[in-house]
Amino acid sequence: MRTIRIAAAGDIHCSKDTCEHIAAAFARHQDEADLFLLAGDLTTHGEAEQAQVLIDAVRDLRTPVVAVLGNHDHHAGKGGELATMLRHGGMTVLDRGTATFDIDGVSVAVVGTKGFVGGFPGSALPDFGEPLLRRVYAETSAEVDAIDEGLRAVAGADVRILLLHYSPTMETLQGEPEGIWTFLGSHRLAGPIAEHRPDLVLHGHAHSGSFAGHVGGVPVFNVAVHVMNRDFWNFEVEPHARVDLDRAEVRLDEETGLVSSSEQPASRS
Ligand SMILES: [Fe+2]
Ligand SMILES: [Fe+2]
Repeated sequence: MRTIRIAAAGDIHCSKDTCEHIAAAFARHQDEADLFLLAGDLTTHGEAEQAQVLIDAVRDLRTPVVAVLGNHDHHAGKGGELATMLRHGGMTVLDRGTATFDIDGVSVAVVGTKGFVGGFPGSALPDFGEPLLRRVYAETSAEVDAIDEGLRAVAGADVRILLLHYSPTMETLQGEPEGIWTFLGSHRLAGPIAEHRPDLVLHGHAHSGSFAGHVGGVPVFNVAVHVMNRDFWNFEVEPHARVDLDRAEVRLDEETGLVSSSEQPASRS
């Protein structure tokens, strides 16, 4: 089975102003990728004309594009409409769902959902008090359940990737003001990752965060374009080359075989 090539980006925030740039970036990367993965915040404010920019950019691609929505895509209250529109435009938009691709005989499963807020030990939202706050907690619970069910459903795939918008770890939030971490992700999202151990976890949302982290030995990357300082990051994933479950630290390239380049973004703009 051959190596699977992933081109990933988060927070591309499409608008009319970025149309030309986005289209050119997709076209430039499509021959070196088996799948494009987009980690949410596809648009600036969740407006249909902004989604249309993305649809126009991917229309002629030969490489499948898989995405989750981000908080920006929900801002106008039209997240569902946007997802439908993008699907009609040829993209696979996952919302608490899975999609499996056969790539030269290798089954590549993507479990995708937005994730949500809630924070991390030391500043985590509890399931207590006002019903409104408890609804926020319950929404994150539903995301956690979806990740668990999705990863359970694709357990037999040769390659398993989890695509999120919000972060499951504080490690990729380093660089963001600690006071807003509660709104950048939740440690509860890490539970099913630690249990099912997908090959790769990608997220965005933390524009000033850090690129690489891990959850219990599973590599996690913040692929927000602001962090990567490039349009896409190319990952190479070896089928069945799972991370050593007992290993305490993520190793990015030759030692795990999961990521082709251990090069770190030089700096953030
Ligand atoms: Fe964003
Ligand atoms: Fe976001």
